[in-house]
Order: sequence, then C-alpha cells, then structure tokens
Amino acid sequence: MRFDVAREVFVCAASTDVPDDNPPETAALRFTLRSARDAAAELAPLDPADHWLVGELGGDIVTHTFLSTARSFDYAPLPGCRFRLRADVAYGYGAWTPPALRGRGYRRRAFLEELRWLRTIDKKWEASVFTAAQLDPARRSLLPVGIVVEPLFCVRYARDRHADVERLVDGDDDRCVPITSYNE
Ligand SMILES: CC(C)(COP(=O)(O)OP(=O)(O)OC[C@H]1O[C@@H](n2cnc3c(N)ncnc32)[C@H](O)[C@@H]1OP(=O)(O)O)[C@@H](O)C(=O)NCCC(=O)NCCS
Repeated sequence: MRFDVAREVFVCAASTDVPDDNPPETAALRFTLRSARDAAAELAPLDPADHWLVGELGGDIVTHTFLSTARSFDYAPLPGCRFRLRADVAYGYGAWTPPALRGRGYRRRAFLEELRWLRTIDKKWEASVFTAAQLDPARRSLLPVGIVVEPLFCVRYARDRHADVERLVDGDDDRCVPITSYNE
C-alpha cells in the first residue's frame, strides 16, 4: 500500500514562566498528574514512562495530554521528524478534548497546568508540535492567559517523503535541534 502524505507542522516552544491565576470559566476543573502507564492503550503514549496530565470535571476526563522529560522526541505522524532537547526543555504531545466539550477553554487551562508543573521540575520550556492549520488559532487562544507559543522550526513533509526542516530562530538557539530526517 502506498503511503501518501504531505504535511506542514511547526515545532514550537512555550515558556513555563506563566501566571498563577486560572481563567474563571475553568475553575471547577481538577488536574492530576499520572503515569502514562495508566492511560488506556488506545490513547497511545509514545513512552509508558511519560507523564499523563488529566483534567476532570464531575468525575469525567474532559481534557488530557502527555508530557515527556526525555532528551529527544519523535513527532510520531511524520517519520524521521526527530529533535534533541536541551536539559531545561520538556515535550508535550497528544493533547485531546472530547469533541462535544471543545471550545470551553479546557485545553488552555490544561496547558497552564502542565507548564506550571514543568517549572517545578526545573524545565524552562515546553516544546510541542502544531499543524500549520492549528498554529494561529492556538496562539490566539493561548496568548490571553499568558502562554506564548514561539515557532522554532517549520517541517514540511512532501509526497516524495522528503522532510524539509526550516529553522525560524537564531542558529545558536539550542533549545530544540533536529537530529535526523527521513532521508538520512
Ligand atoms: C486541539 C484541542 C486539544 C483543543 O481543545 P479545546 O479544549 O477545545 O481547546 P480550548 O477550548 O482551550 O481552545 C480552543 C481554541 O484553541 C485552538 N486550538 C487549535 N489547536 C490547538 C492546540 N493544538 N492547542 C491549543 N489550542 C488549540 C482552537 O482552534 C480554538 O480556537 P478558536 O476558539 O479560535 O476556535 C481539541 O480540539 C482536540 O482534542 N483536537 C483533536 C486532537 C488535536 O488536534 N490535538 C492537538 C495536537 S496534539
């Protein structure tokens, strides 16, 4: 079977130095940090050793995400899209809110929660990947609560399976560095 895919994603960084107050509309949410081993298999964490941040309301999971403190990550949907992380950078992935509950600010609140937790373990930045279509809406949504999403790299993955990595920040910025591509 031919695998026909072409995608453009942005590898971004967000500072963990965020405000301590929460948007009032999400005040009732309760967050717990669990082991990714406790996540149902279909949620598919990259590594069972990762952390699983779960937001609950009235006993239901209403948003969740995974956090990795490993020194590199693979963006699973794009083979070969692999980055090395500086010691003060973690990786967040797999953010999800059930479709019926989207647009209520649950992910925004969860992002604040994970950044604050990462700060307590001496991580200054969280790296995460946004598809091209998600980047601007996400930045617009997150900025008002003090989360600044800074694009570091644009990765274009063409139908010939060539992954082109464009650096968008200074060459000496070593928070997040590509370590391979599909073609190497
Ligand atoms: C992306 C997602 C987690 C946002 O959850 P949510 O609880 O609805 O988010 P909020 O209510 O806090 O904010 C919604 C806004 O954030 C924007 N947004 C889009 N992608 C986003 C992202 N990756 N992270 C944060 N916000 C995002 C939405 O477009 C929306 O903007 P709008 O209000 O201008 O329409 C949810 O839509 C989802 O689960 N999507 C499917 C999985 C996915 O794409 N995950 C992200 C990549 S790992």
